[in-house]
Amino acid sequence: MKTLAAALVLFAGSALALPDPRFDGKAEKPAPVAGAKASAAAISEADSRVWVEIEAPGRTERQAAVDAGISVEEIKPGVAAGFATPKALARAKAAGLKVRATVSLRQRFGALDFPEKDALYHNYKELEADMRSLAARAPDLVSMISIGKSTLGRDLWAVRLTRGAKGTQPSKKPGIVFLGTHHAREHLSTEVPLLLAKHLVDNSADPEIARLLETRDVYFIPMVNPDGVEYDIEGGKYHMHRKNMAKNGDGSTGVDLNRNYAWGWGGGGASPDPGDDTYRGPSAFSEPESKAVKAFVEARPNLKVLLSYHTFSELILYPWGGSNDQIPDAKPRAAFQAMAGEMAKMTGYTPEQSSDLYIATGDTCDWAWGAKGIYAFTFELTPKSMWDGGFYPGAGVVARVLQANIRPALYLIDLADDPLRSVNGGGAFAASAAAKSSGEALK
Ligand code: ARG
Ligand code: ZN
Repeated sequence: MKTLAAALVLFAGSALALPDPRFDGKAEKPAPVAGAKASAAAISEADSRVWVEIEAPGRTERQAAVDAGISVEEIKPGVAAGFATPKALARAKAAGLKVRATVSLRQRFGALDFPEKDALYHNYKELEADMRSLAARAPDLVSMISIGKSTLGRDLWAVRLTRGAKGTQPSKKPGIVFLGTHHAREHLSTEVPLLLAKHLVDNSADPEIARLLETRDVYFIPMVNPDGVEYDIEGGKYHMHRKNMAKNGDGSTGVDLNRNYAWGWGGGGASPDPGDDTYRGPSAFSEPESKAVKAFVEARPNLKVLLSYHTFSELILYPWGGSNDQIPDAKPRAAFQAMAGEMAKMTGYTPEQSSDLYIATGDTCDWAWGAKGIYAFTFELTPKSMWDGGFYPGAGVVARVLQANIRPALYLIDLADDPLRSVNGGGAFAASAAAKSSGEALK
């Protein structure tokens, strides 16, 4: 199969040809898996989506692409790239946008490597088993609860880490929740919260971590969209699936769970077309998965901080996403900026207001902050670009990405009692605090 780089040159005759280590058969190519059938296409005939690169010198064009129903996944100088159905592509063209290049998903991803090489990633069953064994391993510290059922009836699992309260028992300790995989194909966003929970348990004797588990109520919900995840890896092939598995009225599948929350629902940057990757759903909280997160949050008024992991682009995003306005109140605004800035230093990710990318309504964080006053962040994890593996960067990155995300997690857990402490470098795990205590420069 042609590499994307070659395909783009072919399509656009442009100078976009960058190395694509995943697809050029070199860097990451695994040994063939014994007994595996040669590449049956992962993307079905019926899937007519394309990966599209739109000329976007500025925000106006970028937003127009989003508003046409394209799920913009990557922003580069002058270009916004993402997935489009034929209809969305037609809308984009009708809106006057210039299309640089399109590659059919079948052409682009039809012969993806076998996910056997990504066996390190957790499917639903493996996640459930690991969460169970974590709870069994440290029963004084960990409990496991289902926060509801998915569209297809799977339990949505959470683990709770705190000393002295179990299961659904209420707590007055400041609470924080880490969420993963609202979007099915973003598998790394399951690994990070799961492995963070493990890390805390494995290191619960560390005095700093012991203090956090004593004084905070910490939740991990690593797979908000298990149906989508299972579909995305069905048949040992990736399907590039983003949404949940709801059956839509027009026969298409899936609602974008990160456009289905109630804050600003139905506004810009969230598609009313059920076929689009960014379909907002028939109404706010129409989906069992987003409903379950809502009920989970509402049952726990001690929650002060939320972090929703996504991939990819290496960004740290804070509200608003649905409007270009800044948070009106200066104090929390300063705290959001301080926290995002600190965590950017720890990770090397770029901090910015969500809407700096483009306006998109109905996301988790706007709702958590707007409706509940919870300090809410979206992390777009590794890699930086589609060319470095996009949604499927391979098993090789997991350990490194986990490592980069430990400190920000501890930082937020610590600050959950009063996020305003973050202003002026506060917080036990802030870069300035680290420099003071260890004399070490933070990476
Ligand atoms: N890429 C994520 C998504 O599409 C994050 C969006 C962040 N919100 C925003 N308004 N830009 O769901
Ligand atoms: Zn996402």
